[in-house]
Amino acid sequence: MSKANIGLTGLAVMGQNLVLNMERNGYTVAVHNRTTQKMRDFVAAHPGKRLVACESLADFVAALERPRKLMIMVQAGPSVDNVIAQLLPLLEPGDLIIDGGNSYFLDTERRAKELAAKGFRFIGTGVSGGEEGALKGPSIMPGGEPEAYDLVKDIFVAISAKAEGEPCVTLIGPRGAGHYVKTAHNGIEYGDMALIAETYDIMHRALGISNDELGDIFAEWNQGELLSYLIEITAAIFKKRDPETGKHLVDLIVDEAGQKGTGKWTSQNALDIGVPIPTINAALEARLLSANRVERIPASRVLTGPTSRYTGDKQKLISALRDALYMAKICSYAQGMALLRAAGKEYGYQMDYGKIAAIWRGGCIIRAQFLNRITDAFRRNPDLPNLMLDEGFKEDVLKRQDALRFIVRTATDLGIPALAFMSALGYFDAYRTDRLPANLTQAQRDYFGAHTYRRLDKEGWFHTEWI
Ligand code: 6PG
Repeated sequence: MSKANIGLTGLAVMGQNLVLNMERNGYTVAVHNRTTQKMRDFVAAHPGKRLVACESLADFVAALERPRKLMIMVQAGPSVDNVIAQLLPLLEPGDLIIDGGNSYFLDTERRAKELAAKGFRFIGTGVSGGEEGALKGPSIMPGGEPEAYDLVKDIFVAISAKAEGEPCVTLIGPRGAGHYVKTAHNGIEYGDMALIAETYDIMHRALGISNDELGDIFAEWNQGELLSYLIEITAAIFKKRDPETGKHLVDLIVDEAGQKGTGKWTSQNALDIGVPIPTINAALEARLLSANRVERIPASRVLTGPTSRYTGDKQKLISALRDALYMAKICSYAQGMALLRAAGKEYGYQMDYGKIAAIWRGGCIIRAQFLNRITDAFRRNPDLPNLMLDEGFKEDVLKRQDALRFIVRTATDLGIPALAFMSALGYFDAYRTDRLPANLTQAQRDYFGAHTYRRLDKEGWFHTEWI
């Protein structure tokens, strides 16, 4: 039998779907799984496909054409190191290992350096779009050396989603750059999801809008500038009924948000490299606050808030929410892209932000028409310091800020938590303010800690004996 073009070990659904995507695109794929029976069942379920069943890692390696290309789709963390350690004795210098899990980018940095020192090639790649994306076309964010990427580029281009006819894959940069961008993607994803959740909460609590009408509103918004995967699935979610009870399923789901950790990594790293991403952080905090349901329920009985109802015009609030959601999304993406710029400098990634936005236009969870505009903004000015300063986006935020302020006021007056909306407005107002109250902060720091301060009227650093 001819050798397989590529191998994949780790046959959870993402791994299986990537294999089927590769096979559908004409490649012969060697498949392996730690639990052999799962591999056997998978191959048996797909008779006639160009799959090579491999019972052991030795069989797996032997099945591959040289230089070998082996993709690992196992849980991020020590499992990746374990699989690599088992593979290395079986491989030859020049072989390529690809980690397609949601690995922490500094782990990828370490692995890239360790493997390069031993003569092996390594790609750490984000794969976004969930199980459906893996099967039909994900957005792929590989990081590694160009000659390593060249070995797998054709396969990734073939299996990736396409947007405007362009493949949603590009070599992001060296070593951990790909996994870094995937992590930032997930942070931005958290921001999008939090803003949509707050939009729903305000419509539901301020206007008493039903789930079916919510579904209609989101479906309508998905025809315009908010066109995106997350808005599309949100519309569908509000229409979904639970087959057992006939009730809307969304009303039966416990309001505690989980998180596997990639969004948290975004916030942690942004703090490490000193980049303000308040909306992404707020999204994370909102998940953490929701998870604290055990305290929220008794607290809701004692910490009473406003009892007023929204008495304004319904359509005014709904269209203001649409505009506020779009503006807050711009603020959140401005934060995410600013983080990528800072990370590029910090870690030496030399990333093309227009290309990154371009490969997010399809396949990934944050895919949206909106990303075409971000792509254009960075193609117009690759050194754009902040997305809000792009001519088009500047007009958008200036035109929509009244709507965002109205929504923040309304949520505040009604006692509806809107951490993501409020942080987006705060970011916009702080970023555009030429004199912030940090002068007082500096004075306080110098008063109690003699940490010194600079002055507007003369050069140098000063300390004052305040007492
Ligand atoms: C993607 C998703 C995916 C994400 C999981 C869990 O890009 O396909 O972002 O990678 O990690 O859906 O996400 P949570 O962090 O919310 O658990």
